[in-house]
Amino acid sequence: MNPDQMTPAPIHREGSPEFIPDPCTLVIFGASGDLTKRKLIPALFSLFQQGLLPKTFSVVGFARTPMSHEAFRKRFPVQINSEFDPEWRSFSDRLFYFSGDFKEENDFRNLSQFLEGKEKLPAFSSNLLFYLATPPSVYPKIIENLERAGLSGKQRESKGGARIIIEKPFGRDLKSAASLNRLSGQAFHENQIFRIDHYLGKETVQNILALRFANGIFEPIWNRQYIDHVQITVAEGLGIEGRGAYYEEAGALRDVVQNHMLQLLTLVAMEPPVALDADAIRDEKVKVWRAIRPIQPNEVNQYTVRGQYGPGPFHGQEIKGYRQEEKVHPNSTVETYVAVQFFIDNWRWSQVPFYLRTGKRLPRRVTEVAIQFKRAPHLLFRRFSDHTQQPNLLLLRIQPDEGISLQFEAKHPGPGIQLKSETLDFRFNPRAVVNKDSAYERLLLDAMRGDQTLFTRRDGIEEAWTLIDPIIEGWEKDPPKDLPNYKAETWGPRAADGLLSKNGHQWRQL
Ligand code: BG6
Repeated sequence: MNPDQMTPAPIHREGSPEFIPDPCTLVIFGASGDLTKRKLIPALFSLFQQGLLPKTFSVVGFARTPMSHEAFRKRFPVQINSEFDPEWRSFSDRLFYFSGDFKEENDFRNLSQFLEGKEKLPAFSSNLLFYLATPPSVYPKIIENLERAGLSGKQRESKGGARIIIEKPFGRDLKSAASLNRLSGQAFHENQIFRIDHYLGKETVQNILALRFANGIFEPIWNRQYIDHVQITVAEGLGIEGRGAYYEEAGALRDVVQNHMLQLLTLVAMEPPVALDADAIRDEKVKVWRAIRPIQPNEVNQYTVRGQYGPGPFHGQEIKGYRQEEKVHPNSTVETYVAVQFFIDNWRWSQVPFYLRTGKRLPRRVTEVAIQFKRAPHLLFRRFSDHTQQPNLLLLRIQPDEGISLQFEAKHPGPGIQLKSETLDFRFNPRAVVNKDSAYERLLLDAMRGDQTLFTRRDGIEEAWTLIDPIIEGWEKDPPKDLPNYKAETWGPRAADGLLSKNGHQWRQL
């Protein structure tokens, strides 16, 4: 039978009743923290306003600070917490608070009783979804205590079910990530574990797959024959925003490269999946990670550059350098900037450099993937035009100014044959991406629906750390002596240019 004539498997499209998740009670550990306030509750409220939450839905915030349900409801940003907004009122009636210590087994038993006691209320469900939004150091304790209190996914299979969302950072090296995987794997089945990376929830990130695999024209040229190199940039104007203690333990490599940037890289580099389902896609992503040539500790000076911002003017204001930030060691050698060159050793990408750079306090916020094609093989117009013929560039603009553009050479109107670089430009409908936080909406909804496509699988997390560990090892053996080495509002340390120029490349001017 012609495959086109086969009946397609039913899929639950947005807007169909099946798209709404099953009844669910979401328990957030770390409910008094920043993530809950800035991202999770606003995302849930927005889903509620769009009618995308199940009718039976409630949130239980779990944290140490004693607080009433009412006080918990009042914690959320003024713009959504208007007592006069009837929608907020009916949503916030579903928010509850439970005060407990992550380290106390007994508090988890009490939580279990609390949840059981509430099951008769119309907003409560026995189908539980846990969200670990605490500092990562307490994740293991929480998972252990969930199991001791009979709340793990494996224990609740016949009692309504339980899943768990684990926030990044997932471990701080391969060893700790593997141990967290083991621990969570004892309490939950892999299909109950959702390792979140909010980049995967971004519309423009998901669009990379649509661009590549819903169009016929890109695939034939998406390889080493036609692509010269790829540049992935995650530039931020912001500094560390009061997160000194966290950042001192993390640094840019762990904070952004290990997760967001390696995710972007795999979406660009993966083979077409055999189906659009969680495992088919994640199989292909894991293959890319496995094919990336690890940078050995003794190669870090050849393939990586570290940087740290110093004090100085930033958009007209004097700002502190990283070392002057609160809870940062005055001689800290933690990197706020990193540039890396990777190679993917497979047939598609052999010898094509993938350059990644990320940094804090750069001149502006921009995340993009630039696919730089090879030059035209013969410069036919050279005699007629003094414009230097540029190679084609496909730009995937992740944020802001979300869109896709293709740079090409064209004739400048007029006598003679003068060439000029022009751009075909597509911009996303601003209404579709206006909500910066829609990534959390999408991912929370998917976790409630049990769809793991946009979450990292156990093997993926470990493969990604396998690439990061040797870089850290090399860096630790050879601490940098020149920090801070870039001024705020500049594009990072000079050495980052050298990483590309030795291959005859240069960073895109943003
Ligand atoms: C987070 C990092 O995961 O991603 C932050 O911890 C970073 O340091 C942030 O600022 C960037 O996310 P976004 O969505 O603002 O690009």
